[in-house]
Amino acid sequence: MKNSIEPANGRLGILMPGLGAVATTFISGVLAVRKGIASPIGSYTQMGSIRLGKRTEGRNPRIKDFVPLANLEDIVFGGWDIFEDNAYEAAMNAGVLDPGLLNQLKDELTAIRPMKAVFDQKYVHNLDGVNVKKAATKMDLANELMKDIEEFRTKNNCARLVMVWCASTEVYIQEKDVHKTLAAFEEGLRKNHPDISPAQIYAYAAIKSGVPYANGAPNLSCDFPALVELSKQMRIPIGGKDFKTGQTLMKTIIAPGLKARNLGVDGWFSTNILGNRDGEVLDDPESFKTKEVSKLGSLDVIFEPELNPELYSDLYHKIRINYYPPRGDNKESWDNIDIFGWLGYKMQIKINFLCRDSILAAPIVLDLALLMDLAKRSGMYGIQEWLSFFFKSPQSAPGLKPQHDLFRQLMKLENTLRHLKGEDLITHLGLDYYEEE
Ligand SMILES: NC(=O)c1ccc[n+]([C@@H]2O[C@H](COP(=O)([O-])OP(=O)(O)OC[C@H]3O[C@@H](n4cnc5c(N)ncnc54)[C@H](O)[C@@H]3O)[C@@H](O)[C@H]2O)c1
Repeated sequence: MKNSIEPANGRLGILMPGLGAVATTFISGVLAVRKGIASPIGSYTQMGSIRLGKRTEGRNPRIKDFVPLANLEDIVFGGWDIFEDNAYEAAMNAGVLDPGLLNQLKDELTAIRPMKAVFDQKYVHNLDGVNVKKAATKMDLANELMKDIEEFRTKNNCARLVMVWCASTEVYIQEKDVHKTLAAFEEGLRKNHPDISPAQIYAYAAIKSGVPYANGAPNLSCDFPALVELSKQMRIPIGGKDFKTGQTLMKTIIAPGLKARNLGVDGWFSTNILGNRDGEVLDDPESFKTKEVSKLGSLDVIFEPELNPELYSDLYHKIRINYYPPRGDNKESWDNIDIFGWLGYKMQIKINFLCRDSILAAPIVLDLALLMDLAKRSGMYGIQEWLSFFFKSPQSAPGLKPQHDLFRQLMKLENTLRHLKGEDLITHLGLDYYEEE
């Protein structure tokens, strides 16, 4: 059945809490692509294509030509940060992109100034800034964010908005009673409940304003029953969490291959060094704990030790993140994977990935923003599990294990797009190619 999708007419505002390395690398990239001085490499929506129908039909449109997505020309950017730096200054400080490139985009970047943030050092210990809202209650802060959102919408003449969390990782917070129902959560906002962090306030404000919300960090933000309830009530798509980049991207590429060939794994040790502000925040044990939990989940789900105890029940999975300023955003990671094969004979795999964190994350911000906007125009709301492809720790329905295998995630993403457009889903069975007349 073909769903009706509203056209992507007018401007799309992409709002980001956190104008740091990832957000400014994303914004600069889109501006550079618009000027024709760079290519959107790594972006599924801009560079990816999708097969339709049988292999013999030769129909393989680009994603952006297949589904009605906002045009890059129609995007406007906005955000909040605890520092007053405009996007040009923030991008220069982040040190990800060449000053030569940033200078070609200077006027547009300079015009993007962060709105005052909702922030509390209790939730991000290693940071402090001055560009912060003050209010008596967390509900007042949410109302101020909603005012910011409406002012941005009007001032920039936006037909639609989406919000993508690109701010620092908050401390680890577990779901409590205050997160269980919308009524409890709203009461918690009015009473300044300590388990309601700024990320949750932004998510609430976005959903309440009719704005799809995606969480790029691993902290609790829209992934609890109260906000799922609100997203259904408001018919707003939500999703998270933690952009799938770097070491976890590699893990979810390699682990499905080992599993597919029934090779056993005893141990997976991952360590990395990074020296950007994200690394500094993660140097705090409470923020690291949030990240660790997000990164640890993937292997268990991919290997399914309960189905393959002989191969995976003794897997020792260890993750270290080390703050090391000299490297800045250019992270280096090492993985040692202890595997075993036929008759139990042991082997090892070593991966040394010299990656650039924000270069891997920026296209995900673009894809998530465009696909969340598509979801809303297609009448989809609540948790968007079909966007798991972009997340380290995908949000899924209660009681449903998330899907971590990158290739299954891709199949789900592609089949959802085919479904939206009324195309046949592809099972890869292909027996019909060999049937006799
Ligand atoms: N780069 C990657 O590959 C990657 C991958 C997955 C997740 N992430 C997550 O994305 C987020 C951004 O990463 P980054 O490298 O850009 O970090 P960054 O430190 O460069 O930028 C984060 C920005 O958020 C601001 N901030 C913090 N709390 C805020 C709040 N409450 N409201 C508004 N602004 C706030 C900070 O001042 C900072 O400018 C982090 O949470 C990180 O863990 C990044």
